[in-house]
Amino acid sequence: MTEVPADLLDCLKTHRQEHVLSGWERFTASERASLVGQLRGINFAELATLYAKKDEPAASLPTRDRIAPLPVEGESADAAGIGEAALHRGEVAALVVAGGQGTRLGFDLPKGMFPVGPVSQSTLFRIHAEKVLALSRRSGKPVPFLVMTSPATHTDTVNYFEQERRFGLPADQVYFFQQGTMPAVDLVTGKVLLESPGRLFLSPNGHGGTLTALADSGLLAKLKANGIRHLFYFQVDNPLVKVCDPAFIGRHVQTDAEVSSKVVFKEKPEEKVGVLAQVDGRCSIIEYSDMPKAMSEERAADGSLAFRAGNPAIHLFSVPFLERVTTGRQRLSFHLAKKKVPHWDPTTGEAITPVKENALKFELFVFDALPLADRWLAVEAKREDEFAPLKNATGSDSLETLQSAMTAQARRWLRSAGAIVADDIAVEISPTFALDSAELKAKIRPGTVVSEPTYFCET
Ligand code: UTP
Repeated sequence: MTEVPADLLDCLKTHRQEHVLSGWERFTASERASLVGQLRGINFAELATLYAKKDEPAASLPTRDRIAPLPVEGESADAAGIGEAALHRGEVAALVVAGGQGTRLGFDLPKGMFPVGPVSQSTLFRIHAEKVLALSRRSGKPVPFLVMTSPATHTDTVNYFEQERRFGLPADQVYFFQQGTMPAVDLVTGKVLLESPGRLFLSPNGHGGTLTALADSGLLAKLKANGIRHLFYFQVDNPLVKVCDPAFIGRHVQTDAEVSSKVVFKEKPEEKVGVLAQVDGRCSIIEYSDMPKAMSEERAADGSLAFRAGNPAIHLFSVPFLERVTTGRQRLSFHLAKKKVPHWDPTTGEAITPVKENALKFELFVFDALPLADRWLAVEAKREDEFAPLKNATGSDSLETLQSAMTAQARRWLRSAGAIVADDIAVEISPTFALDSAELKAKIRPGTVVSEPTYFCET
């Protein structure tokens, strides 16, 4: 490629973004092609509209009279049969979002490749894939496993799954798809930032990008054609998630919900977690940064926190709902965030490391889909059984807290099966050995003594 394609040049001129071509004459043919590819992926008109909103005050929380706590159901084991039947009919797929950059954890590889198993050192991806495998065997129907990556995580993730032979899952049961990216723009000028000469600074477009990528990649249509009616959504960083929990699916089916969400009750008002609440009668999320202190401290008649329905990002979406929110009017809108973005400055030819926020980044949030649902359901999940995310290198939500939650759960299951295991013995149960406490009970003889660190797995 010698010249910049004329239509692209026109577009860059219209939007005053020609600086991205700086150094064009020195680029190799493949560098030129790659830059043009990046530029073709950007909707500059949309970017200009978003940038124009930078000084608008962030949407404020509606007045208190428009907000009410969300009714939350307890877990209903009775519905498990309905969920199991849906799984047996092949109507449910599992989707893990694994496109994030894991900046807080500071791990070079995709977070899903982080070894977390307290005894086995199994990675997050292995644990999730084994759950899908075990569930498929149990329900007698393969549960499609969708793995959403981003350009930052895609190649490593796909190679890792191949290297591990997809953890026993057949190739036609695992689907990879990539979320979109968004450029970052200079806060003052609105100009697109460059990572290096001829390379734009692009980042994943947020977990809300899952829904659009699912539709745009054609995967949603394919799932529908294959008879999938419900999609179980979860995050890669939570090894305790009950993937495609039958009781949860059962209630979702029984209530004909468009979206069902698990909630984990907040224990303290200051906990940094988004909360599900009703806003104007619709299911919504109030982010912790938007939650007024007084509201976070409000108490219900029984003394519990009134707004305690914490969001562990575990949802079930009905396929028709996903079709609706990924087309036309109801598509999600971007959130704007001011960030420090190191970049290359084409005017000076220097690499810039900003000391304060210099850029705007744009992200879609999956929970923005919740208020679009006409029928919704929230079900309580016990934190110790279902939620232990890996976010930070140390302290809260770190490997240490996650491993102690995994070990504690394995110990509870073993003890309920009648095994004897001391508090200082590390234990871990592979999902293919037992997906739940009841399954473990059928495999362990009461009175079994576990006296050394043990990984219970298929032999
Ligand atoms: P987080 O918002 O916690 O981000 O993502 P993260 O990448 O894991 O960590 P930080 O914030 O950079 O430290 C929650 C989930 O959403 C996915 C992540 O992979 C994780 O499973 N995610 C996030 C995406 O798939 N794409 C995104 O653009 C952002």
